Amino acid sequence: MKTAMEVTEHTLVETLDGLARFTGDGPGVTRLAYDAAWREAHRWLRERAASLGLAATADAAGNLFFHDPAVKPEEPARPVLFVGSHLDSVVRGGRFDGAYGAVSGMLIAAELRGAGKLPVVGFVTCEEEESRFRAHLMGARSVLGNVRAAELDAVVDIAGVSWRAALEEARAAGCAAPLAAGEEPFRPPFRPATMLELHIEQGPVLEREGGAIGIVEHIAGYRRLIARLRGEARHSGTTPMRERRDALAAAGEIILAAESLAHELDHPAVATAGNVRPAPGLFNVVPGECELWLEVRHPGAAALDAMGLELGRRCRAIATRRGVEVEIERASGEEPTPLSPALAAEATKLAGELSLPHRRMTSGAGHDAMEFARAGVPTLMVFVPSRGGISHSPEEFTTPAALFTGYRFTRELARRLSERGAA
Ligand code: GLV
Ligand code: MN
Ligand code: MN
Repeated sequence: MKTAMEVTEHTLVETLDGLARFTGDGPGVTRLAYDAAWREAHRWLRERAASLGLAATADAAGNLFFHDPAVKPEEPARPVLFVGSHLDSVVRGGRFDGAYGAVSGMLIAAELRGAGKLPVVGFVTCEEEESRFRAHLMGARSVLGNVRAAELDAVVDIAGVSWRAALEEARAAGCAAPLAAGEEPFRPPFRPATMLELHIEQGPVLEREGGAIGIVEHIAGYRRLIARLRGEARHSGTTPMRERRDALAAAGEIILAAESLAHELDHPAVATAGNVRPAPGLFNVVPGECELWLEVRHPGAAALDAMGLELGRRCRAIATRRGVEVEIERASGEEPTPLSPALAAEATKLAGELSLPHRRMTSGAGHDAMEFARAGVPTLMVFVPSRGGISHSPEEFTTPAALFTGYRFTRELARRLSERGAA
């Protein structure tokens, strides 16, 4: 095998530590798509890639590709092997979610530069978490050419900044290429023949079982709903309890109903109310309005549909009983998604050959891999254990040894796939 360089556990951990420095205020990592920390991280990764002998090409969405300078992005028909993950984080998230796969993709591309028939391209998507914009998997969809121009203006963040305006700022900072004219603003610079995403598990299964490698065969789907409740803002001291139409109290009952629904359905159904925004938000006014963010997840398509419908039914029933109006918007969602059985079989064989404790598993978390798989790209995710199963938290942690085991495993899988060439 021709390797341009050799990555050690130290290189991997030191690169992850370097990337974790780019964060906003507060504990953990806060790096939202196109914000100042994200732009700095983007620049740092480009510099790091150059020092590894790789070209770093940003597309018009700010997704980043690390590749052999001899593999030109001007050859869009040329299939490549994608290995990577996302650069953005949740608010006060951990230092491994996305970052681990993103850094690993870059390092694997450097190690396997020029090695096989199918060039290995490390990739970093711009936006996966939906923490800034209300739109699902924007980065992956733009890599795949699945975004229409209208979305650039329709998708806005909580302050009303459009995707187009945020991108302009990113472009001015050198983090994105110009948009293409017409209905399809994102022209994919590479065509993924296969996609591999290395990620921390974000759940407790591998740690509990002493597993080193999780081979992900399926990803749970989700539905995100925004319930807008409208009651009556009234004086809190003078309005008798039985005459109130309290939007926040209705939201409270809906939150508990969502929780009960998931308990009734039992594992693996989950339901979460992640945000509640009452107005006017004072001690002395019965809240007249309230916005409530709800999410349900399930690995089964029929069960997920049923959960979404039942949650909507419970919302409306509670609102009606309390004399509150409710409007429910479907904010975003992804269908439950199977990943490539052929790649899962290949990964299982490799784990056996390397005598690594492993298991097949379903991901409860959503990932860019869902979009790639649904676009028909053979796609696989590889998990490593998360301490205490904790993620989306500053307490996220995986040992350097476990990170490096996942890295070496994914590098070997990528090497074999690259050697074999496009299917
Ligand atoms: C991403 O981490 C998600 O599952 O929401
Ligand atoms: Mn995440
Ligand atoms: Mn992630």
